[in-house]
Amino acid sequence: MKKNRFSKQWLNEHLHDPYVKLAQKDNYRSRAVYKLQEIDEAHRLVRPGQCIVELGSAPGAWSQYLARRLGADATGALRGRVVALDLLPMDPVEGVEFIQGDFREAEVLQRIEAMLGGRRVDLVLSDMAPNLSGISSADAARVEHLADLALEFAGNWLTEDGALLIKTFHSGYFSQIVARYKQRFRNVRTLKPKASRERSAEVFVLAMQPKPDADPKSGLS
Ligand SMILES: C[S@@+](CC[C@H](N)C(=O)[O-])C[C@H]1O[C@@H](n2cnc3c(N)ncnc32)[C@H](O)[C@@H]1O
Repeated sequence: MKKNRFSKQWLNEHLHDPYVKLAQKDNYRSRAVYKLQEIDEAHRLVRPGQCIVELGSAPGAWSQYLARRLGADATGALRGRVVALDLLPMDPVEGVEFIQGDFREAEVLQRIEAMLGGRRVDLVLSDMAPNLSGISSADAARVEHLADLALEFAGNWLTEDGALLIKTFHSGYFSQIVARYKQRFRNVRTLKPKASRERSAEVFVLAMQPKPDADPKSGLS
């Protein structure tokens, strides 16, 4: 009964959500795109020619946005590269290279690295959200683990002026996550874009200006 009421409330909210309507109009696969768009417009993250790694990309709205922002050259090829990864399958987005796999697995990391072929990355984006168990300490640890993995990947692969944007949550380890990002970047901000629902604990951490001498593993648990 309770569940039904919740589902109705969710459906009602979804049907009246301006970002859902906008996503339909703009032909995006999900309203999540407007969170990235707002952050990009404020901080000028995405530029043609960049190499971008996108973690947790399905159903593909961020990939669509990145492909549109990078644009295509005269031959129709993407101006830059987007390597996208998700546990789930994703319908192709033109110009975007997709890997299906779990970012927590070493073999999947190796596949991303092989695809990069030694090219450094200008922007690492993560919209990954772990499956929640409902046990708050276990869920907080999963959130922290994904944030740490993204940080480690960025530490190894970002260019000198690269940036890392992750979605995370106000869970038990949030301040530790931010502290670790600050050890490795000079400029770290927490952001709550308008398209992120007020009642959601999600929050974005944008880390810019990597510290040149930071050990990629420093501060990681
Ligand atoms: C909120 S959705 C991403 C939406 C996407 N940004 C878009 O615009 O369409 C989060 C995604 O993270 C993926 N994910 C969660 N944990 C992951 C992991 N360990 N490895 C890869 N993908 C993961 C989920 O499968 C899910 O598709």
